[in-house]
Amino acid sequence: MVDNKSVLVTGATGFIGTRLVSTLTEKGYSVSALVRNGRHTKVKTKEIVGDLTSDTLHFDDCFDCVFHLASCTPLEKNAKVLENVNLTGTKNLFNAINGKTKSLIYVSGLGVFGEPGDKIIDESHPQNPNTKFVDIRLKAENFLREKCQQNGINFSVVYFGDVYGSEGWFSDILAKRLQKKSFRVPGGGKYFKGFVNVDDAVGSMIAIYEKESFGESFIVADSSPVFFKDFVNYTADQLGQKHPGSVPVFLAKAALGSDLIKLLTTSMKVSNKKISEIYSFKFPSYKEGIPKVISEMKEKNILL
Ligand SMILES: NC(=O)c1ccc[n+]([C@@H]2O[C@H](COP(=O)([O-])OP(=O)(O)OC[C@H]3O[C@@H](n4cnc5c(N)ncnc54)[C@H](OP(=O)(O)O)[C@@H]3O)[C@@H](O)[C@H]2O)c1
Repeated sequence: MVDNKSVLVTGATGFIGTRLVSTLTEKGYSVSALVRNGRHTKVKTKEIVGDLTSDTLHFDDCFDCVFHLASCTPLEKNAKVLENVNLTGTKNLFNAINGKTKSLIYVSGLGVFGEPGDKIIDESHPQNPNTKFVDIRLKAENFLREKCQQNGINFSVVYFGDVYGSEGWFSDILAKRLQKKSFRVPGGGKYFKGFVNVDDAVGSMIAIYEKESFGESFIVADSSPVFFKDFVNYTADQLGQKHPGSVPVFLAKAALGSDLIKLLTTSMKVSNKKISEIYSFKFPSYKEGIPKVISEMKEKNILL
């Protein structure tokens, strides 16, 4: 057990943040959660009410580490809202925690690497944002890196692959729609994706903090890059559903937004060698992770 170290989690009501708060709490951390007015964390913890978009955001407490997960997803089609939450909000957060935290871990995604082609890439691959969503996220990351360096705050960034678990997109967009037979695979699904189980996403972040691996960036995806269609079909098999058909990319973009579908349909194979040096994955492959997630969904009555 950890000796009551004090951490702040932003995005604590979200899919990954909820699991991070519960794991940190079980490990003995004293966890504060930034929540918007009227929202509550699913796990009982100290809630601090605030909105990233408010320039009066402030904290009375000091923290050993801030885990910054709060963001709009690429489903947000309004560029002004995206910029306000993901960039201005990140700046407001920094101003509120500057002088009040020793460390900051920032969460981003593999989209920062653009379209790297067929080869397996690692953290040294050049960053090349090709959506507005990622461009904004990269500006926020660079802002934090520079400000943390100037102000003596330890900083690391994690680039998550697609994080699956019993909630979030896996539940809402994939599993339930497979059950309703309304899911279609954009563009046929022959593009590589790096997936990561939510337990490993959370475990990796905590390992970075506990092993003091700062001044670094980490790709966090499991060891099994897979065609998106194979991941979907495996999930359908586990749910006892038929393999879904395909939808043209342009129609998927019209329904879910251009940035989301571009990020989804970009093929990417990533190496998790660097994070594996400090963290052992519980689920090195989706073939182990999905059955566990589906049984968790059944236990929680999340499935239809
Ligand atoms: N899920 C994935 O597959 C994946 C992959 C790569 C990277 N990531 C990154 O991981 C992080 C967490 O993802 P997630 O899937 O857990 O996201 P999520 O479920 O959509 O949760 C987003 C969180 O951000 C909070 N938030 C949004 N706007 C806010 C604001 N103005 N002020 C304060 N809080 C605000 C939300 O609070 P409310 O409850 O009040 O809305 C919620 O707690 C994000 O940065 C995401 O980009 C996720």
